[in-house]
Amino acid sequence: MAVDVLLGLQWGDEGKGKIVDVLTPNYDIIARFQGGPNAGHTLEFEGIKHVLHTIPSGIFHKGVKNVVGNGVVIDPVILKVEIDKLLKMGVDVNAQMLISKKAHLILPTHKLLDKASEIAKGKNKIGSTLKGIGPTYMDKTGRNGLRIGDILEPTFKSKYEALVAKHLNILKHHNLDYDLAELEIPFFEGIETIKELTAIDSEHYLNNAMKAGKKILAEGAQGTLLDVDFGTYPFVTSSNTTTAGTSTGLGIAPNKIKNVIGIFKAYCTRVGSGPFPSEEDNQTGERIRQLGHEFGATTGRERRCGWIDLPALKYAIMINGVTELSMMKADVLDTFESIKVCTHYKYKGEVIDYFPYSINENEIEPIYKEVKAWNTDLTKLRNKAAFPKELLDYVTYLEKELETPITIVSVGPDRTQTIEM
Ligand code: GDP
Ligand code: IMO
Ligand code: MG
Repeated sequence: MAVDVLLGLQWGDEGKGKIVDVLTPNYDIIARFQGGPNAGHTLEFEGIKHVLHTIPSGIFHKGVKNVVGNGVVIDPVILKVEIDKLLKMGVDVNAQMLISKKAHLILPTHKLLDKASEIAKGKNKIGSTLKGIGPTYMDKTGRNGLRIGDILEPTFKSKYEALVAKHLNILKHHNLDYDLAELEIPFFEGIETIKELTAIDSEHYLNNAMKAGKKILAEGAQGTLLDVDFGTYPFVTSSNTTTAGTSTGLGIAPNKIKNVIGIFKAYCTRVGSGPFPSEEDNQTGERIRQLGHEFGATTGRERRCGWIDLPALKYAIMINGVTELSMMKADVLDTFESIKVCTHYKYKGEVIDYFPYSINENEIEPIYKEVKAWNTDLTKLRNKAAFPKELLDYVTYLEKELETPITIVSVGPDRTQTIEM
């Protein structure tokens, strides 16, 4: 069997957690391929809301295996908190989750380095979640990192100390207050928790599962515009959030990938710094933020809000080879009379319809088409037949522009508020 991929097409928080949870009954395995606890994936069902950071969003379905792939970076402190919460809810995490021996560990000093780096950047800071993501991936590519598989080795403690010594040497040049001994207490508690999990060679596990006819869904974190290569660099995360990340982050060959489900909001948001051409830094943005509860699932920060951006979406669809789309949070626009769609940019005085190399606020201006909105409560709709005409028109228009079918429309945070088209 082939592998399907689900990933974000904007700057993250598109609703990946919700849709992975909804689609999980169609799969045997859900596998996270990159990112770490900078992610916050929200699921809602039976009146309860859950936010997952490291654990794949299929964890609430008994009998489905959840794999944390080699491309993921893991903070033992946060993973332990996540596991403990799930255990309390009666989820048998150890039976349902497998973790790659090749996944890298986020050390307490990686988080300190993240903070030091942001402080040093001053007004040019990335707006990182400060979860240690950048420094951990730097140590991975710099060939210094520690991996899950190292934990069980007798050399773990000495390798840990050697890496920490390197970090402390760098931190000496920054004026940062910290108590490492205190930070290490929950870290080593988390390490003990990880020892009880099943660590595997996930590339073998997944390829064997494929051979045995199992269905796999790869779950992305962040979004395409935060990809380290194709996003709005340097205001990006430190991993490949795009389809290619599935191959490197899980050991799945490109020719094994079948459907790529690209997910986007009916409008657009971004958290942290960096360009956002269709941002509404005004009352309209504030209205979307309040209606859409656009506050970070990981940091609680206000998300910046604006209109849907077609040149950016087309770019994301191209890079990822998206075969179908899920449109999220249509209900957030329920009370609007009309909505705007950015169709082109005015860039350095010229009208363009593609995503340019670098976007500086002074150089780019969105060009909008205004469409009539539905002005109806969508949250109770459960099938396409009940859609107001304006919503159907919006979906049809986007499908035509994006040259890709929209197969899911989401009209609320709950599992049941999902319409298959
Ligand atoms: P993720 O990181 O892509 O998994 O997305 P987040 O969980 O960070 O953010 C999406 C937010 O929108 C969460 O609070 C979800 O519960 C919520 N959400 C998802 N789909 C919908 C929807 O269709 N309508 C509304 N109103 N909220 C939604
Ligand atoms: P999910 O998976 C939204 C953003 C941060 C910052 C930049 C770099 O929930 O969609 P990092 O911590 O990686 O160094 O931050 O990326 N960012 C996200 N924004 N959703 C996320 O994940 C994000 N993960 C990182 O705000 O601008
Ligand atoms: Mg999120």
